[in-house]
Amino acid sequence: MSTVFICDDEEDLLRYLGKLLVASGYQVETFSRGIDLLERLNAGDTPPCDAILQDVRMPDMDGLQTLALARTRWPQVPVVIMTAHAAIDDAVQAMKQGAYDYLTKPFPKEKILGLLSHLLDHRRLETENQLLRQELHRSQVGRNEIVFRSAAFRSVYDLTLQVAESDANILITGESGTGKELIAAALHYNSPRRAAPFVTLNCATLTDNLLESQLFGHIRGAFTGAIVNQKGLLEEADGGTLFLDEIGDVSPAVQAKLLRVTQEKEFMPIGSTRSRKVDVRFVAATNKEMLQEVKEGRFREDLYYRLNVINLTLPPLRERKDDIEPLAKHFLDMQTQRMKRPVRGFARAALELLLSYDWPGNVRELENVIERAVILCRGDEITPSLLPLRPQRAANVPVPDTSAALIPLDEIERRHIGVVLKATAFHKSRSADILGISRKTLNRKIVEYGIQEEGG
Ligand SMILES: Nc1ncnc2c1ncn2[C@@H]1O[C@H](COP(=O)(O)OP(=O)(O)OP(=O)(O)O)[C@@H](O)[C@H]1O
Ligand SMILES: [Mg+2]
Repeated sequence: MSTVFICDDEEDLLRYLGKLLVASGYQVETFSRGIDLLERLNAGDTPPCDAILQDVRMPDMDGLQTLALARTRWPQVPVVIMTAHAAIDDAVQAMKQGAYDYLTKPFPKEKILGLLSHLLDHRRLETENQLLRQELHRSQVGRNEIVFRSAAFRSVYDLTLQVAESDANILITGESGTGKELIAAALHYNSPRRAAPFVTLNCATLTDNLLESQLFGHIRGAFTGAIVNQKGLLEEADGGTLFLDEIGDVSPAVQAKLLRVTQEKEFMPIGSTRSRKVDVRFVAATNKEMLQEVKEGRFREDLYYRLNVINLTLPPLRERKDDIEPLAKHFLDMQTQRMKRPVRGFARAALELLLSYDWPGNVRELENVIERAVILCRGDEITPSLLPLRPQRAANVPVPDTSAALIPLDEIERRHIGVVLKATAFHKSRSADILGISRKTLNRKIVEYGIQEEGG
């Protein structure tokens, strides 16, 4: 018999669901507080249940936080999120955090029962296939596919393969989300160093001290807390490639130290008095205008030239629109496989919307938009309403000129709300932000003016 845990602060719903599931042959435990659920989950050494139904908005503890903790404790136990219809962004967030599926309240009992039995079947199969799948997963890591069709990207990619052979340091530049990290990995895996490690250091997220200790390592007793010798990333990358991500954010002090390593291939672990030799190729990336940084004195010129022996510049997605469709299909395939959703493709209008948008967040934004669409898609096709593109740079939607028409004020309001809703693909919280009103007010006006999704 399968055991289901239900967690919701609405006592009535909790009682109703409990009865329903018991009557359908499940063993049930109910919790009205997230904290109680977590306590119960933490108790044993084996998962105490086969599935969890969980409300997102809870007074004592944020449901997403509960979800995260539950997933950490028992990653194999599927969690189904229950959310109010208005809180669809919570559902998206929950799915990204690994929820199995979500239900919007109110839902008919067939829906919950169907979902549960599907999920438990699925889980049984999953357990059987686990070993197999782990193998599969391992062989896919490090084989990140690079997708493109444009001539612009083709020429950068050709250059990448060409310079991968050499041992020259390389600086990759390009806006955020254009694929710099992917290209850095391609450089390594197509180089003679491919059998040695590819090590990444993100320079933007660390303080100077941490950055140095990560990079150079330290010896025991070098500072309080340094209780063992710690190898630095430079040493880890010996024979391979060290990828210095967000190099434009490194402080002058660390820049000086990096200069020495890149020149002499020699460094000293913190606290040590003996320098060590390493054989490392440096690949660095940044979304800053490095020449500008150099000119304004924020980045050392000598280090810049050291790292920038060859420059690879990734064009923004809006300058290679030919890549949008293949990338969108690629991400759609990835997500439908991952989430096991039967989504076949894009509706024509959806594809047109993707093509007309200018993608300020580049490929990463496209990836996120597709992921969200797949999560929310209930049919077999992605439709435009599933694609909420950032409004400020969405394709120009002409605002009708109502100034000359002799019409009442509220008619202008009605039309304008319609225009904004359309521009955001009916994304209500974004529309409310743009209009400078609360979502509640927006909802009221939508009802009041009878604005409908199709045609506004
Ligand atoms: N040509 C591509 N084919 C497939 N996936 C891509 C491509 N370009 C980018 N991606 C994906 O888009 C996301 C962003 O790419 P990546 O992290 O390499 O960008 P970035 O330039 O390093 O961004 P940032 O400057 O913000 O760090 C990643 O998930 C990456 O796998
Ligand atoms: Mg990056």
